[in-house]
Amino acid sequence: MDVIVKPSYEEVSALAARMIADVVEDNPRCVLGLATGSTPVAAYRELISIHKEQGLDFSQVVTFNLDEYVGLDEKNEQSYHYFMWENLFSHINIRPENVHIPEGNAEDVVEFCQLYEQMIESFGGIDLQLLGIGSNGHIAFNEPTGSLGSRTHLTRLTERTRRDNARFFKSLDEVPSQAMTMGIGTILDAASILLVANGESKAEAVAKMVEGPVTAMVPASALQLHPSVTVIVDAPAASKLTREYPSEPEML
Ligand code: PGA
Repeated sequence: MDVIVKPSYEEVSALAARMIADVVEDNPRCVLGLATGSTPVAAYRELISIHKEQGLDFSQVVTFNLDEYVGLDEKNEQSYHYFMWENLFSHINIRPENVHIPEGNAEDVVEFCQLYEQMIESFGGIDLQLLGIGSNGHIAFNEPTGSLGSRTHLTRLTERTRRDNARFFKSLDEVPSQAMTMGIGTILDAASILLVANGESKAEAVAKMVEGPVTAMVPASALQLHPSVTVIVDAPAASKLTREYPSEPEML
């Protein structure tokens, strides 16, 4: 893994946005895997300004989001559909038909999971997958002890994840208990992976992901098996790492 430690969340986000913009510039028809949560918000904001100020063109870009709550309507403000349009898609020139987000309201969720895998494959796979990390080491909604070979599937959220996400809802009771998520196996199929994390609450998960053993107890540790992973973290999120890491990507 290439680990980069930046002093602040703003610098993490600026570098992440630059790396995503580079992929889009190199290949205007690229397939991006996108993530929700608080962490990518500033990187999305930065991508919007690169689009507005430098003309970064998303008209041929195809996206696949990692996950979605089961049982929330797309128009529900807590749904990841709503989040993505609010924080990115409405502000760039992406075509709605090129956006893919798991349908939390699909009639047959299991069937939809298979279809999602087929759709990713039909576009030739994901070129760059953006990820956040949960305080329990999850990536997307792949919770501890889930299979490290899993494909897109229906999953039950742990109480810790529900509590972590309750800040976006009126009460803990409103946080759905199930979600549809790309599996770890799906994520590992992406050509490259970019994981961003900020804040002390992520420090333990980041240290275990980067320096700990590969274990289903820390789903993000499976990224150690992938040949092209960049992890960009701010100083608080890096505070439990024991080795020295650079502050800039290495130019090889
Ligand atoms: P966060 O979530 O960005 O809201 O902290 C990250 C995650 O749970 O993957």
